[in-house]
Amino acid sequence: EKGGYPHFMLKEIYEQPSAILDTFRGRLLSNEAIIKMAGVEDNMKKFLAADRIIIVACGTSWHAGLVAEYIFEDLARIPVEVEYASEFRYRNPVITEKDIVIAISQSGETADTLAAIKLAKSKGAFVFGVCNVVGSSIARESNAGAYTHAGPEIGVASTKAFTTQITLLTLMALRLARAKGTMSSSEFRHHLIELETIPGKVEEALSSDAYVKTVAEIYKDSKNCLYLGRGFNFPVALEGALKLKEISYIHAEGYPAAEMKHGPIALIDEQMPIIVIATKKGHYEKVVSNIQEIKSRKGKIIGIVTKGDVSVKELADHVIEVPETIECLTPLLTTIPLQLLSYHIAVMLDKNVDQPRNLAKSVTVE
Ligand code: M6R
Repeated sequence: EKGGYPHFMLKEIYEQPSAILDTFRGRLLSNEAIIKMAGVEDNMKKFLAADRIIIVACGTSWHAGLVAEYIFEDLARIPVEVEYASEFRYRNPVITEKDIVIAISQSGETADTLAAIKLAKSKGAFVFGVCNVVGSSIARESNAGAYTHAGPEIGVASTKAFTTQITLLTLMALRLARAKGTMSSSEFRHHLIELETIPGKVEEALSSDAYVKTVAEIYKDSKNCLYLGRGFNFPVALEGALKLKEISYIHAEGYPAAEMKHGPIALIDEQMPIIVIATKKGHYEKVVSNIQEIKSRKGKIIGIVTKGDVSVKELADHVIEVPETIECLTPLLTTIPLQLLSYHIAVMLDKNVDQPRNLAKSVTVE
């Protein structure tokens, strides 16, 4: 059942190239330069009339929502707010019929997310569900939706659900961008072609596994760990930290790199590993200067860089390369080494990778 892998988590990490392909199969038609998504198409009027999109989710799905915020705003120019379902539902939030609520949930059974969409529906908002489990409660409760088609995710730590959620939300953003005219047809086509190359590039990112394992060996006994990223990769830093906490029980924090100097920089000493996502596109120079600040405080730097990088390599203690792609798609690649790093650390520490203590695969109580 684990397909020869020692854990479901590793199997699911390695399934990402095909899972992502399954997410865009039949939806991304690059020859015809179109995206076909029935749930979006059938409700296009509502999407085009929406004042804003509110994304509700928990945990890793909330991180996917944060990535989507950057992508929707950048490509489709629609204002997006991303909310923890548990906060949103108890806040007496301002919701109207002109809002679209997107609920993201792998299981489709998360109690807070389900309650948040019931609340949104009662205020007249249109609810679009992004779920993995077909026929799940959130999928049924939504007015429309689209499945990620990632296949069953058994490991408690979410991996392929995250990357397929981002893939699906990118397809939606591209479809809406085209409908709204916020993207030229050549830009649109370029994005489709790039998105199609992602499964192959994820495969390539997975080939760093053996090297990531050597890095894991060095840092496995750390007590704390910082993850930094900017722009599209800020949520990836949050996700990297969650993954490490959840399965290895090492305390980890994710931060937008520029926020470091507003507090967390005080934590940095020679004991502190800092994983910095520093891909070529997207504030690269600024991230390099953040890395210099870490270096002068003797922090240990693990850079996630674009293949062929030079500047970060000179400063960092270790670099893990990912293939180059357009900026908004980089999260699909930078996530991979972070998943592998936490996986290897947890295995080395002899933790129960697939079923970490105190956690359940779907949180059906609030
Ligand atoms: O099934 P959902 O996507 O609604 O689950 C949300 C969170 O409970 C989930 O992502 C959780 O944070 C994962 N264990 C993270 O790896």
